[in-house]
Amino acid sequence: MAKLTFPEIRRGVQALSSLYVERRNQLGAGAALTGAGKRAAFAMFYSPLHFLLVREIVRSLDAARSVRAILDLGCGTGIAGAAWALETVPHARVVGVERNSWAASECRWTYEALGIQGSVRAANIEKLRIPPDTAVVAAFTINELDGPVRDRLLQEFLRKSSRGAPVLIIEPIARRLVPWWDGWASQWVGAGGREDSWRFKVKLPERLALMDRAAGLDHKELTARSLWLPGRP
Ligand SMILES: C[S@@+](CC[C@H](N)C(=O)[O-])C[C@H]1O[C@@H](n2cnc3c(N)ncnc32)[C@H](O)[C@@H]1O
Repeated sequence: MAKLTFPEIRRGVQALSSLYVERRNQLGAGAALTGAGKRAAFAMFYSPLHFLLVREIVRSLDAARSVRAILDLGCGTGIAGAAWALETVPHARVVGVERNSWAASECRWTYEALGIQGSVRAANIEKLRIPPDTAVVAAFTINELDGPVRDRLLQEFLRKSSRGAPVLIIEPIARRLVPWWDGWASQWVGAGGREDSWRFKVKLPERLALMDRAAGLDHKELTARSLWLPGRP
């Protein structure tokens, strides 16, 4: 807000919202994170909303037990790994993986601001091998990947979990945004995991509520779907 006015950020929120919902074909080109208005909207509107949402999901799944390290795939500003880590005692270490350099630097800021022991890898998750002994979260990321990459990751997640690591996937509730969901869910449940749809009533912090109303949105309820494989303690 030091550089942009409230209406400029509000337009950024509206542009980002329309990009994610109506013009998804442009996401692959990184269109979501171009321009100061959209970046501001991503960092100060959608990221806090996702933080609140992921925290509710982690609490509802009782996912924080015995997690010591978290890998956050497509971490953006780092909120999913951060929300999970802050629920763990002692707080888990987090590694964020992000291909966009602006988001990666925001992620470093998030970890520092929230007192999280975290680091960021500027990398493409398409080629990533997941290290052992780390929990994995991917929030609103898998739907941005191409089919073959998604297929490879699905197999890698199932393998990881069979070796003991918890895996948490979070995606939008709107089915048309995740046409691959049912295939993933059936393999997930077959591997002993669970599939959920969530709807949380939340009281938004005042600034978020103000921007929400101004942008013509309504986030009194936060929604998402998730896949959870608890791994082995
Ligand atoms: C919708 S954002 C979600 C960010 C964050 N996880 C959240 O929940 O707020 C998707 C993120 O994934 C990143 N991303 C997409 N494809 C990627 C890839 N192949 N490698 C690394 N990051 C990727 C994008 O740059 C973006 O920051």
